[in-house]
Amino acid sequence: MSAIEEGSPVRVLISEAEISGRLQELARNISRDYEGKDLVLVCVLKGSMVFFADLARKITTPLSFDYICVNSYGENTESGEEIELRTDLSEPVKGRHVLLVEDIVDTGRTMEYLFKLLEGRGAASLKVVALLDKPARRKREVEIAYRGFEVPNAFVVGYGLDYQQLYRNLPYIGALELDPPLD
Ligand code: IMP
Ligand code: MG
Repeated sequence: MSAIEEGSPVRVLISEAEISGRLQELARNISRDYEGKDLVLVCVLKGSMVFFADLARKITTPLSFDYICVNSYGENTESGEEIELRTDLSEPVKGRHVLLVEDIVDTGRTMEYLFKLLEGRGAASLKVVALLDKPARRKREVEIAYRGFEVPNAFVVGYGLDYQQLYRNLPYIGALELDPPLD
């Protein structure tokens, strides 16, 4: 059943079934809150694409998709100090309800950057749904309207999240336990 190979440094934290159940609850709340509203679901690339695809298919109200790609500098496990916009949204959001879909809120810098970027564009509302919340490392205050799971202060991979671009295809969320440890 497990896709983890023997000797793998990944320890399962949240199973596929747990993720699916929680997404159903999030989608129910989102469908209720955005009923009758012009909703744009924005995938924050790359890490959120698996979460985005599964969540979107559980939401029952009409919506459109858009994508935004940001990078924090550096390939290591520390979220970078600097955020860079790689690809902007493809459509204007003026008058529309924007829901950012994020894999994990860690220091909060990415969300702070995106809120500042999008706030001036006249959206009817701007909120975030985050699969994971790692509050132990928060440096910026972020209001998470919909939250999947709180995770401990570990480096997590799988279900879209990577370590040096690997592990994104694991169907569950795991903690990466390297020897020697990260950070
Ligand atoms: P923040 O700007 O520090 O909140 O970090 C946001 C981004 O850093 C996330 O969207 C992830 O792409 C990445 N990130 C933060 N923590 C982790 C982790 O534990 N595993 C994988 N990626 C992470
Ligand atoms: Mg991300």
